[in-house]
Amino acid sequence: MTHFLVCAINDVGYQGGPFWKVPTGRKDGVVSNLVEARDSIPAPFHNLTTLQRLFANQGLDLKDLVLLSGAHTIGVSHCSSLSNRLFNFTGKGDQDPSLDSEYAANLKRFKCKNINDNTTKIEMDPGSRKTFDLGYYRHVIKRRGLFESDAALLTNSVTKSQVTQLLQGSLENFYAEFANSMEKMGRIKVKTGTEGEIRKHCALVNS
Ligand code: HEM
Repeated sequence: MTHFLVCAINDVGYQGGPFWKVPTGRKDGVVSNLVEARDSIPAPFHNLTTLQRLFANQGLDLKDLVLLSGAHTIGVSHCSSLSNRLFNFTGKGDQDPSLDSEYAANLKRFKCKNINDNTTKIEMDPGSRKTFDLGYYRHVIKRRGLFESDAALLTNSVTKSQVTQLLQGSLENFYAEFANSMEKMGRIKVKTGTEGEIRKHCALVNS
């Protein structure tokens, strides 16, 4: 019999959000490789082509990219993750023109005051960083997404229209679609046979 855990992306103190079933007994690897992780995991400076490729390598499509990026409705970023967009986009002390200039000016005035700031944290969905809602997409469409990877969603007609459609749809629709993509992500490269192990603690290799 398959047992399921019911999962949510939120932690204690966070409000609302989607839920989905996660089958127990998933086999994970026992070795982590820094280089492999660095080559596979998207970075905030990646453009749409690179994001699409990295997602496709894991069996995820553009729709998953848009939906899973919606997790940035929760939490914070360090200034260092976007400082090049604010202070040195092309190496000439310039700003990323795809970032709303008024928003960028406010960030530079009140939050990320210089390029070396690697401690200040900023909300990715200002005003509702603890609520799982459509706020992230509202910011992205106003060109206020913090990362180039957020802004990238507007550079492709398919992803841009998905953002618009999510904003026109209900919160329940977003939750259901997000949960689908999370379930899909949970099926990436599950170990089988003699490979891997079922972890006693989900974040740790068994001792
Ligand atoms: C599309 C590719 C993605 C990129 C390039 C990306 C990049 C980032 C970066 C740079 C940060 C801020 C790190 C920092 O400065 O502290 C961040 C935070 C976060 N990301 Fe993503 N991310 C991506 C996809 C995802 C996905 C798929 C999820 C989950 C489904 C996710 C969930 C989060 C959450 C919850 C935070 C906030 C963490 C906190 O508050 O401490 N991201 N992401």
